[in-house]
Amino acid sequence: MVSIRESIHGEWSSRWAFILAATGSAVGLGNIWKFPYITGENGGGAFVLVYLACILVIGVPIMMAEIMLGRRGRQSPINTMRDLSIEAGHSTHWQYLGWLGVIAGFLILSYYSVIAGWAIAYIMRASSGVFTDASVEVIKNEFVSLVGDPEKLIAWHTLFMVMTMVVVARGVQGGLEKAVKFLMPSLFIILILLVGYSMQNGEFNMAVKFLFTPDFEALFYKTDAQGNQYMSWNAVLIAMGHAFFTLSLGMGAIMVYGSYLPAGTSIAKTTFMIALADTVVALLAGLAIFPIVFANNLEPGSGPGLIFNTLPFAFGHMDGGIIFGTLFFILLTFAAWSSSISLIEPAVAWLVENVKISRAKAAILMGLACWGMGLLTVFSFNIWSDLKPLEDIKIFKDATIFDLLDYLTANIMLPLGGLLIAIFSVWIMSREASMEELDMGDRIGFKLWRFLVRYITPIAVIIVFLNVLGIVTFK
Ligand code: PFF
Repeated sequence: MVSIRESIHGEWSSRWAFILAATGSAVGLGNIWKFPYITGENGGGAFVLVYLACILVIGVPIMMAEIMLGRRGRQSPINTMRDLSIEAGHSTHWQYLGWLGVIAGFLILSYYSVIAGWAIAYIMRASSGVFTDASVEVIKNEFVSLVGDPEKLIAWHTLFMVMTMVVVARGVQGGLEKAVKFLMPSLFIILILLVGYSMQNGEFNMAVKFLFTPDFEALFYKTDAQGNQYMSWNAVLIAMGHAFFTLSLGMGAIMVYGSYLPAGTSIAKTTFMIALADTVVALLAGLAIFPIVFANNLEPGSGPGLIFNTLPFAFGHMDGGIIFGTLFFILLTFAAWSSSISLIEPAVAWLVENVKISRAKAAILMGLACWGMGLLTVFSFNIWSDLKPLEDIKIFKDATIFDLLDYLTANIMLPLGGLLIAIFSVWIMSREASMEELDMGDRIGFKLWRFLVRYITPIAVIIVFLNVLGIVTFK
C-alpha cells in the first residue's frame, strides 16, 4: 500500500539534498530579520529561552511529524492529508488541514516578498557605498525613504516574486539543489565574520547578557502608550509562533518537501540537523546585530527596521564594508529566496495534481495572486501606515495591516496547523504506520516523540491560545 506511492513531482537526489533544501526553507528572513527584532521587542533573554524550549519540545517533534506525513502521502499537503485520513479510516475533512497550510503559505509569501525586496534594495545601497562613514541618522533616513515610497517597494517586491516563481516553475531539483549547496555555507561564513566584527567593535558583552540572561519581567510586562504597565502572555505566543515560523512548520512546506524524500532516510536525524542549523543561524544573527545596537544607542525594540538600521552602520565603518555589506544582503536575499519557494510549493503542487495544469502555469497564477496580496503590505508601510484596523483591541492597538497579517499567520495559523498535525499524527494515524515511517523501532526515541506530540504540543498550543484569547489567565 504505502510503499508503492510515488510523487509525480520527482524526488530529491539524496538525503543531503533534502537536508539542504529544508534548511534553505527554514533559514530565511525569520532568522536574520525577524528573530533579532522580536527578541528586541520582547526584552531579550527570557524570550530567547522560551523560544529555544519551543524549538526543542514542540518544533522538533512537529517537524518529524510533518516529514513523516509528507513522505507517506507523497503529494501536496491537501491530497496527502486526504489519502492518509482514508488510510486511517477517518473523515477526509482532514484535507482542510492542507488547505489551512496552503492559505497560510500564500499569506506569508505576500509579505515575505515585500521584506525580501528590502534586502534586494539594500544590495544596491551597500554596493554603491552610501553607508561608508554614514551616521546613524543618515542610515535611518535611507530606510525611511525606502519604505515610505510605495513605487520602490512595489518594484522590489515584483522582482522578488518573479525570482521565486521562476524557480518554482522549473521544479525544485535542478536550480535549487545546486544553489543551496553553495549559498548555505556562504551565509554561515559571512555571519561568523560579522559576529567577529561585532565582538571587536560592538558592545559584545552587553549583547550576550541581553540575549542569554533571562529577565522574566521584561517578557511578561508591557507598557501601553499611556505608560501603564500590564501583564501579558502574548510574548510566549510570539515565541512559540516564531518557533513554527523559523522552522517552516504548521503549513505543509516541510510536508511537501518530505513528500520528495527518498525512502530509507532517517527522519529523526535529518530533523535534528535542520533544527540545529536554523537555531545556530538565529543566535549568530543576534550576536552580530545586538552589539552594534548597544554600541550606538539604537533601540533594540525598534521593530522590523532593526537590521536595516544597524548592520549598514557596521558595514559603513569596517574595512571592506562595501564588499561585506553587499555580500550580506545578497545572502539575505538568497536565504529568503530558498524559503519563499517552499512557501508556495504546497499550492503549486496541488494545482499541478488537481487542476492538471503545468508547473509553469501554476507558478504564474499563484505568483500573480500573491503579488496582488503583497500590495497590502507595501501600503501598510506608507500610504496606509495610519490604518490600524483592529485598534480597539489592546494588543493590536498599533498594528498595521502588515502587523496583523504577520500575527495572524505566524502566531495563529501556524501553531493551529501544528496542533492539528500533532493530533493527526498520534491520535488518527495508527501507531504502526508512524513507527514504520519514522523507522526508529519501538524504542525510547519513538516513545518520547509520541509522548511529546500526543500531550506536550497540543497542551502547550491550547494553553497559549486560550490565554491570549483571555479565556485562561495566569497571575
Ligand atoms: N522559515 C522561514 C524563515 O525563517 O524565514 C519562513 C517560512 C518558510 C515559514 C516556509 C513558513 C514556511 F512554510
